[in-house]
Amino acid sequence: MSENTAGTEGVAAVILAAGQGTRMKSAWPKVMHRIAGRTMIGHVLDAVAGLELARITVVVAPGMETVAREVAPHGTAIQHQALGTGHAVRAAKAAMAGVKARTVLVLYGDTPFVSAATLRRLLERRYASDNPAVVVLGMRPQSPFGYGRLILEAGDHIARIVEQKDANAAEQAIDLCNSGVMAIDAAVIWELLAQVGNQNAKGEFYLTDIVELARRAGRVSAYVEAPSEELLGVNSRIELAAAEKLFQERRRLQAMAEGATLIDPATVYFSSDTKLGRDVVIGPHVFFGPGVTVADDVEIRAFCHIEGATIAGGALIGPYARLRPGSEIGVDVHIGNFVETKNTVMAAGAKANHLTYLGDAVVGAKTNIGAGTITCNYDGYFKEQTTIGAGVFIGSNSALVAPVTIGDGALVAAGSVVTRDVAPDAMSVARGLQVDKPGWAAKFRAARAALKAARNKSK
Ligand code: UD1
Ligand code: CA
Repeated sequence: MSENTAGTEGVAAVILAAGQGTRMKSAWPKVMHRIAGRTMIGHVLDAVAGLELARITVVVAPGMETVAREVAPHGTAIQHQALGTGHAVRAAKAAMAGVKARTVLVLYGDTPFVSAATLRRLLERRYASDNPAVVVLGMRPQSPFGYGRLILEAGDHIARIVEQKDANAAEQAIDLCNSGVMAIDAAVIWELLAQVGNQNAKGEFYLTDIVELARRAGRVSAYVEAPSEELLGVNSRIELAAAEKLFQERRRLQAMAEGATLIDPATVYFSSDTKLGRDVVIGPHVFFGPGVTVADDVEIRAFCHIEGATIAGGALIGPYARLRPGSEIGVDVHIGNFVETKNTVMAAGAKANHLTYLGDAVVGAKTNIGAGTITCNYDGYFKEQTTIGAGVFIGSNSALVAPVTIGDGALVAAGSVVTRDVAPDAMSVARGLQVDKPGWAAKFRAARAALKAARNKSK
């Protein structure tokens, strides 16, 4: 069977993100808050990316331009007033015009961990022979309080969903809850939604009412259950931190399962897109920001901060290294303690082992960058390039003032301030020349001692 068993090309998704997220106490839309370096809405988009959907529409409130930019090229629909989840889905109707979909998949932008595999199970159930109008993704959270409860019929069929505030005592005792994710028959969704009213405890247009409305129209609905951690919703900074923790715990286990050694897993932080090869060894207290790819057999020692970097096989990074965006670290490169790289390509076998800043630079194969080397890449106005050839030796404490090129095989003497290009195989000394005065220090000491004695006497 192919992976795409559920025929997801006939599916359009609506992701609800218009809620104000009051409890975040934030000027940002809730779904723009990040977990593992990725916005919550980005996580949801990642989950549906594998499904090859016909269209994805994100429902936002007026003024949420940052969300529109984040989800592009997918489109947004504006819900002018937050009148409930049913009202929010309806706001996407115009954006769905012209899409040939059998199913509308509804997701929440603040439920970031839903997986593609679970969504496929939901869609498979939607296409079973009883042709359910609605398939609800159910869960059994530790505390069901606050969630809509699924009222079961025979088998996996559900009669209706009752919201917390509208539930009687018996209904409140049900632990099977609505996660919010639903797969809805596209042939009936808009007519069902048109019938949804707001005569309920919250005075909102509940999406959940469509289950009962479908039943009245002679259609069945069903549920599929998924682990509640996967359906965790984020409503506050505390829940955001809990989501981050959960993500990191799972990602560490995944990294180890896939063949990386984490010496102290609890102290290693990944981004949602971190890629690790096999036999990567990661020391304690390493942080991966977005956009990092690490090949096989790389060792990353303790206390490194790495983002936007590609690290090739056999490289040795840290301890205490900082790799910033645009760092391309070649095979067997060594980056040592207190070395910072930004927008820099290091070819195979190059070394920068101590106390160095390499910005906007190209470093050739097997070149050695001495301790304290700085590329002076910025004059306050422009960023300029430093090009260092292969087999170069840069002496310690050199400043390379960009734009500048050091030819292959050249040697820059320690302490140089290099402002002009250095030819291949040349030696460049760019510092005050050394002057030696034999006996000078001894004479100086004798003179000072005599002066001191004379002054003490006259006191
Ligand atoms: C909803 C469900 C409930 C379910 C729970 C799961 C309804 C009526 N209730 O309740 O059964 O157990 O989610 O978390 O659907 N939103 C909009 N526009 C609106 C209202 C909401 O876009 O007008 C978005 C929010 O941004 C959020 C999502 O819809 O992403 C859920 O809204 P929320 O108000 O949190 O629903 P709950 O009351 O938690
Ligand atoms: Ca909620």
